[in-house]
Amino acid sequence: MPSNDKLFAYNLGQIVPLSEARLHVSDLSVQRGYGVFDFVKVQQGCPLFLDDYLNRFFQSAQLMHLELPLSREELQQVIAKLIDLNQLPEAGMKMILTGGYSEDGFTPMNPNLLITQLPLTLPSAEKVAKGIPIMTHDYVREVPEVKTINYSMGIRLLQEQKASGTEEVLYAKNGVVSEFPRCNFFLVTQDNTVVTPAKNILKGITRKNVLTLAGHRYKTEVRDIRLEEVLQAKECFLTSTTKRILPIVRVDDVLIGTGTPGKISLQLLQDLVELEEKMVSATAK
Ligand SMILES: Cc1ncc(COP(=O)(O)O)c(C=O)c1O
Repeated sequence: MPSNDKLFAYNLGQIVPLSEARLHVSDLSVQRGYGVFDFVKVQQGCPLFLDDYLNRFFQSAQLMHLELPLSREELQQVIAKLIDLNQLPEAGMKMILTGGYSEDGFTPMNPNLLITQLPLTLPSAEKVAKGIPIMTHDYVREVPEVKTINYSMGIRLLQEQKASGTEEVLYAKNGVVSEFPRCNFFLVTQDNTVVTPAKNILKGITRKNVLTLAGHRYKTEVRDIRLEEVLQAKECFLTSTTKRILPIVRVDDVLIGTGTPGKISLQLLQDLVELEEKMVSATAK
């Protein structure tokens, strides 16, 4: 695998060595934390579900009133170029669009676009087999439908998370569950219905794929979930591009189900891995 100093990035209109990618301090991302991004998993040179990620990236930009300096086709060409240059077997492609170099430190100017590609490590088989404990926190993201660069709450809670011996934080405002700082939430009811929150979430691409896969085998519901229901669930799991499906075995002090990863969570993970592998081999042909 090439070391990071051999990697290339897209920086304000140019492909440059990653070590040279930079922004001026006047950028609104630095000054006010204003910007959006998206993150695509690239396996064996195949950017998985790219259309979905591009749709979400353009939508995030539009909702934050930021205009992308590249067309969709140009963006796809840059992504293909970076994949070709970097030759990483398993990677994350991050597209970041910032508020631009602001004259008064508040008003957005021409948005700046950066794209990086870095090696990615997915959760180990041991991690999946063990599942993870999580804590809850009374919070809802500011603009949940947008993938903004602002992860202040999740980052600020890292110390509390560590002290509580948990590995993720589930946001629930007034008892209604939304999502994790970087993942979506699912539960499986005692009658094997797969449920995920409907509101106040980023619509994860993995969430979308898992809902489709779950629909082939089980009943699915997209609706409000209260914390009490989580504690009585048969299974819980989280989904994201970098984690795929990770079983949850404890929420605060309460064990979920038997306190071990549930059968349905693991079945859906297998289905998701197969879907990704199918896509990679179809692209290789
Ligand atoms: C707030 C939030 N929710 C959910 C997700 C999961 O989305 P995806 O499955 O597209 O990675 C992310 C991804 O980073 C996120 O930032």
